[in-house]
Amino acid sequence: MKSCTRSNSVAENLNLWNQEHAWLEHGDEWKGQADSCGVPYPEWKASVVDRLITPYAKPGSTILELAPGHGRWTEALSSLAGRLILVDLSPGCIEECRRRFEGRDRLETYVNDGRSLPPGLDCQVDLVWSFDSLVHVAPREIQNYLFEIHRVLKPGGFAVIHHANRRHWTLPLAPLRSLGPTWALLYRYLSMGTEESADGWRSAVSVKLFRTMATRAGLSVLENLSRWGDGNRYGVPRHNDRVTILVKAPEDHANGQLLPHERNSQASEPNTPGSPSIFDRSQKNEAPG
Ligand SMILES: C[S@@+](CC[C@H](N)C(=O)[O-])C[C@H]1O[C@@H](n2cnc3c(N)ncnc32)[C@H](O)[C@@H]1O
Repeated sequence: MKSCTRSNSVAENLNLWNQEHAWLEHGDEWKGQADSCGVPYPEWKASVVDRLITPYAKPGSTILELAPGHGRWTEALSSLAGRLILVDLSPGCIEECRRRFEGRDRLETYVNDGRSLPPGLDCQVDLVWSFDSLVHVAPREIQNYLFEIHRVLKPGGFAVIHHANRRHWTLPLAPLRSLGPTWALLYRYLSMGTEESADGWRSAVSVKLFRTMATRAGLSVLENLSRWGDGNRYGVPRHNDRVTILVKAPEDHANGQLLPHERNSQASEPNTPGSPSIFDRSQKNEAPG
């Protein structure tokens, strides 16, 4: 992929997703994670919804999808959300989402600047979802988004974010990519290891950096996942990716919600197939009287 020598700038992302990419299957062309897990793509896709969306998406709630592309995950989000807000850098992607979800009530769509969320949403969103998109976005923009996510989330709201995970010590070496294919290959080898045959145009982000940026933005890390499901059958192992689940601290205990460290102690529960959602669990944990 010639893009492995490019930076992960807003301009490069706009050019790639708004002009160059053909969107032959409207996002379902990205079957690589399912292939890496050795499972059929529809099964893998269903596991993403069951493990990463449903437990955090309270029915009827306000969900913001950051960078939906042509709406690969928006179908599932739409069936759970009351108010649905879509934000993408690419005018072509937002146009396609408007066409695909035409007639849906309480749908708001925005073309953004690649780093900010719409104004006027402060403390209104229950869940921010972003998958297969911020993996390509540079740390500076991700940091800005994390501040923005903190701004729009309600206290106790969640963010489920798929991001890159290069080896932390190699992050300062990212400029090597721009020197040409040989240097890009060396950088991939150092930052991802020999098992990776492609770079996937991942940005210079590690789990450690993502956690640091989230904490700086006032968000707490609930979980960081590479695999899930029975026997860790599913996941995002390709390019060593991770999905981090973040929470904005509830303002207080008075509304019966759990504080982040309390949620953390129960964080493995949503892994269990068929387990109640976090919202069911919070209700059960309400203090009697
Ligand atoms: C690989 S596609 C993934 C689309 C969709 N999430 C999916 O999984 O099918 C990347 C998407 O991220 C959007 N994007 C890239 N950089 C962005 C940025 N800085 N801000 C907002 N959207 C961005 C692109 O326009 C595109 O829609």
